[in-house]
Amino acid sequence: MSADGASLLVTGIGVVRGAAVVVESGRVAWTGPADEAPAADEAYDAAGRAVVPGFVDSHSHLVFAGDRGAEFEARMTGAAYDGGGIRTTVTATRAATDEALQANLLRLLTEMRRQGTTTVEVKSGYGLTPADEARSLALARQLTPETTFLGAHVVPPDYAGDRGAYVDLVTGAMLEACAPHARWVDVFCEPAAPTAFGEDEARAVLRAGLAAGLGGRIHANQLGPGPGVRLACELGLAAADHCTFLSDADVDALRDSGTVATLLPGVEFSTRSPYPDARRLLDAGVEVALATDCNPGSCYTSSIPFCLALAVREMRMTSAEALTAATLGGASALRRDDVGHLRVGARADLVVLDAPSYLHLAYRPGVPLVRTVLAAGRETSPSLQPAGAP
Ligand code: NIG
Ligand code: FE
Repeated sequence: MSADGASLLVTGIGVVRGAAVVVESGRVAWTGPADEAPAADEAYDAAGRAVVPGFVDSHSHLVFAGDRGAEFEARMTGAAYDGGGIRTTVTATRAATDEALQANLLRLLTEMRRQGTTTVEVKSGYGLTPADEARSLALARQLTPETTFLGAHVVPPDYAGDRGAYVDLVTGAMLEACAPHARWVDVFCEPAAPTAFGEDEARAVLRAGLAAGLGGRIHANQLGPGPGVRLACELGLAAADHCTFLSDADVDALRDSGTVATLLPGVEFSTRSPYPDARRLLDAGVEVALATDCNPGSCYTSSIPFCLALAVREMRMTSAEALTAATLGGASALRRDDVGHLRVGARADLVVLDAPSYLHLAYRPGVPLVRTVLAAGRETSPSLQPAGAP
């Protein structure tokens, strides 16, 4: 199949004008000027529109029940976000049926796909018992291979008096129940938040996950300065996410370790907080990813285009930097080299925009510019396939 007539094709190594892409068996087989394209058995005419790689959303929390709209409303009139509302979602999630959780997950993945996302990482973290966490991950695994065990999201109320016992549970029976359904382990490391985890607790959780064969990632430096980013670099984690409050030593450590800094500007928008300093990271040579963090508390957007607009307007990233961060950066944060770009051999995840250039993603915020999404060369919706693409 070929998609030709793109006015601007962003491949991840450059931009081709008047381009065509040839797809074979779900992979990119050729890219270049349309008038040089090899023959194909089926053609899709992009009619001068821009084509970009499918977005890679490397941070989301989609397995949950309930609604925290009132918490958002309170924040907009002055209340601070401290992660305490996570426990509200835990109560609702534990009480929900598998069918209800699955339906909500599929609804959100479908929203994401309509907005151009073709690879999604999904965390657990609203179950916080071995059975509830394993259930969340098993449900997510039916829709994406990028599943993350986040049993260390907060200390649940039943363990409030004995944090050590909860860390023992997370690193013991809970990890054992969850590891078969997860690719990654994560922890909310935020010493200033009363229900989140400190440095030593986070190190114990991450080390246990790594020893069980999982890759590592972390929620770090979201609400204030802290040890999370340096811990990520020390342990060689794939990504440190949030990175809102960084010291010079944190930035140096990120640059030297190769740990990707994942920025989640939808969170700062939805919690009325200062945005991370993306320019400082980019100028220091740190690899940056952009993701939604879609969750019912700190940020309930499923839209990468919205986050791109925030990145450009509020974090002073160029449109090219923002698009790269939401494609190649996200792929790198998931240690994937088959997605996030359209080089020959990549999975054929393509987004056709109703616009002549990717610049319009930030230039026309809030406008549904995503016209067609191909995942592995096909226009399909997310569906229940064990370990399949979302
Ligand atoms: O990434 N910071 C911790 N976890 C999520 C928020 C989860 C929630 O508030 O429900 C985050 O912002
Ligand atoms: Fe998160």
